[in-house]
Amino acid sequence: MTETRPSTPTSLDDVDGWFPKVDQRLFTWFLDRQERLGQQGDLVELGSYLGKSAILIGRHLRDGETFTVCDLFDSEAPDDSNQAEMDGSYASLTRTAFEANYRAFHDGLPRIVQAPTSVILDHVRPESCRFVHVDASHLYEHVRGDIQAAHVMLPVEGVLVCDDYRSEHTPGVSAAVWEAVAAEGLRPVCVTPQKFYGTWGDVKDVQDDLLAWLGEQDDLWHEVQEVAGRPLLRVKGKPAPKAPKKDRTRELKERLARAEEQRARAQHELDSVRNSLSFKVGRAATALPRAMRRRNGRQR
Ligand SMILES: C[S@@+](CC[C@H](N)C(=O)[O-])C[C@H]1O[C@@H](n2cnc3c(N)ncnc32)[C@H](O)[C@@H]1O
Repeated sequence: MTETRPSTPTSLDDVDGWFPKVDQRLFTWFLDRQERLGQQGDLVELGSYLGKSAILIGRHLRDGETFTVCDLFDSEAPDDSNQAEMDGSYASLTRTAFEANYRAFHDGLPRIVQAPTSVILDHVRPESCRFVHVDASHLYEHVRGDIQAAHVMLPVEGVLVCDDYRSEHTPGVSAAVWEAVAAEGLRPVCVTPQKFYGTWGDVKDVQDDLLAWLGEQDDLWHEVQEVAGRPLLRVKGKPAPKAPKKDRTRELKERLARAEEQRARAQHELDSVRNSLSFKVGRAATALPRAMRRRNGRQR
């Protein structure tokens, strides 16, 4: 990311990070739905970087709930492979930058655990959460541990979102996510190009509600697939409609007509000045001096 960002962000677009619009819409939908259903619980994010997704999650925090973010920020990683990820992708990250971004949108900070995600269960009680976003290390061993911790933190109807479940450069995340589906009872609700949404609870009601909502969203595309005998929703943003291509010949003819119109208007203005009484009087009054100047010029 090379773009220069404003120092104090005013919208999520101003915050660097990896949080596509379709996922912003789905996070909002899942968290709003929990509110509508009166589901209480804490919120957790493993891997926050500069706060792009944390800022949105924090908007859904209600009285009596805690939002915990866990990130290494500018501290040492627990192993060499994880340190290589940190050096490669997040070398300039600081906790101060995260806090400044978060404070630009919220009065207070979330609870921050600046440590490897492997310690998250020392800070968050079992079954105390309603929403967990796993977006920290991409290494299989770490993601597997993060999903297992999420299973402990979430009650049965809680929602788990995993980032980068299918990217070419993150096969470890794919392995950990689908292993949890195949062997640990995690049920997929939907997938987007970047994120996997699942639960250890019942998926039918949430999928029915989601389908009803998606049917009303003109900017989101979706389909239902069946995976291992269970429905799975695919969701993605629709590309913005292309502006119709203009006919080049018509465009040139239009420009020519506009230029001709301008020329005719200028000619008309010139003619009306020439025919005006004041112009004729002025010309007559200056005719003699002009003739004298011409004659003097010839005599020199
Ligand atoms: C992909 S970024 C998070 C993106 C962020 N959620 C967003 O919306 O832009 C991954 C983050 O995980 C953190 N991280 C990597 N390995 C970690 C580990 N073992 N424990 C805690 N945080 C880790 C990195 O510092 C980085 O901030």
